[in-house]
Amino acid sequence: MALVARPFLTAEQIQTRVREMGEQISGDYPEGPIYLIAILKGAFIFLADLSRSIKTASRIEFIGISSYGRGKTTSGQVKVTKDLDVSIEGHHVLVVEDIVDSGVTLTYLMNVLKQRRPKSLRIATLLDKPERRLRPVEVAYVGFQIPDEFVVGYGLDFAEDYRNLADICVLAEG
Ligand code: IMP
Ligand code: MG
Repeated sequence: MALVARPFLTAEQIQTRVREMGEQISGDYPEGPIYLIAILKGAFIFLADLSRSIKTASRIEFIGISSYGRGKTTSGQVKVTKDLDVSIEGHHVLVVEDIVDSGVTLTYLMNVLKQRRPKSLRIATLLDKPERRLRPVEVAYVGFQIPDEFVVGYGLDFAEDYRNLADICVLAEG
């Protein structure tokens, strides 16, 4: 059966919301630098847009975490596959994530980062699927809460495909 992508959030809707998030974050952090730590690979487009909407001085870092194989559900196994190149001790850290699903990935990552003693540590996610949560995660900034559907585009993939779609689409069998 073929997979078809049904538009769910348009590029325009996403831009509007990301700009609002950037304004809110700018207001909440009068003093920089903010270390924006994006989780590879899914958050790369969100990071690019969000960072340009943030007026506070920011630095861009990436961390690689693997928790998913080729399927649509978490394997429950989480590990750092690419660590930060810098120390975050004493700095404001904002983790930039594409989507919070079970919460397993972020629970793990927040524990790792907390041990490095940042001045502050928060999460900004573009999408949140609260129905799917297995671990409680405190998320400071949420772009959109969405129902339990598998979405792709704007950085999000299914088995590495669809990341370059401008819209966010629901992936369904058709
Ligand atoms: P969690 O550990 O279950 O919260 O998984 C979060 C990660 O799973 C995200 O960073 C995504 O890479 C991936 N993920 C969860 N839901 C989706 C989805 O609907 N589409 C694409 N990737 C997803
Ligand atoms: Mg992914």
